[in-house]
Amino acid sequence: MTELLHPDAAGIARAADLLRGGGLVAFATETVYGLGADAGNARAVAAIFAAKGRPHFNPLISHYPNAEAAFAHVEANAAARRLAEAFWPGPLTLVLPRRATCPVALLAGAGLETMAVRVPAHADALALLRAVGRPVAAPSANRSGRVSPTTAAHVLAGLSGRIDAVLDSGPCPVGVESTVLDLTGPRPCLLRPGGVTREAIVALVGAIERGMPPAAAEIGRVLPSPGMMASHYAPALPVRLNAREAAVDEALLAFGPAPAGAGVVFQLSVSGDLAEAAANLFTGLRALDEEAGRRGLRRIAVMPVPKEGLGLAINDRLQRAAAPRA
Ligand code: TXA
Ligand code: MG
Repeated sequence: MTELLHPDAAGIARAADLLRGGGLVAFATETVYGLGADAGNARAVAAIFAAKGRPHFNPLISHYPNAEAAFAHVEANAAARRLAEAFWPGPLTLVLPRRATCPVALLAGAGLETMAVRVPAHADALALLRAVGRPVAAPSANRSGRVSPTTAAHVLAGLSGRIDAVLDSGPCPVGVESTVLDLTGPRPCLLRPGGVTREAIVALVGAIERGMPPAAAEIGRVLPSPGMMASHYAPALPVRLNAREAAVDEALLAFGPAPAGAGVVFQLSVSGDLAEAAANLFTGLRALDEEAGRRGLRRIAVMPVPKEGLGLAINDRLQRAAAPRA
């Protein structure tokens, strides 16, 4: 049985107890719901991989209540400190070298010498992290490869009975995952666009690269950030991008006014607001998947979304949703 907890003092205390005892608890962050475990407990971390069906080569982010706690476990450079100052708590994950004394289980980092750290901007998440008093490893709380959850109901739809509890804090305000930035090379490298925009990072630390970090290329690692895998965040139905209208067998994910005659429509943002669209994205994909399934439709058509600001993260998730399935 998975307990449904309210994020009041008793609920947070119960969630913290479960985590300290090696349990799995899903909790809201500003981006998506995370599936948490005590990062220092290798068995608990292994249970995350099992519950999600996640490949063991895909490392987890460790969550901390503040930058000081995070930088006690990874080596921060000047860029990391500046970014943390500007964006933490917030939807930015930094990949940095692990300290020799870092107590996080090697399995959480998939054996890498680097580790991803983040301080989430959600009052309930921060209260939980403070109550646990240990880093909490937390991937998105969905079955591996599926759409990330932005409500407790989404979490339960995929993981009910497989985890100990969900702390229900309502819908996540940002709606797409954190930006993952590798700071271990000569230049910052964007591994995953997300809630902090590329533009905001460039304004602070100058030019950044996209894709594989130089260090990973040198040592011949093929997949520096497995979240970069082409097919990911996938709904059940196939997805067609840059649609100007929906065919009779398609449901439409709209951005801005939907074309006349479209049948099953989920509106990301009628006014074309990217923050609103990001917050609605995963709910929209799930809702259309279900509704289209009920009506025997065969595909989800998606209207174009501009590739700037939060639109970069939205397009990244949509492209993966549309990528050929493995
Ligand atoms: O917003 C988020 O980041 C959410 C909330 C719960 O914090 N978490 C999340 O975790 O999206 P997950 O596991 O679904 O995605 C983490 C991403 C993956 O693409 C993973 O490969 C990458 O971060 N990552 C983790 N550790 C890494 C490392 N040491 N080097 C490179 N990439 C890493
Ligand atoms: Mg994920």
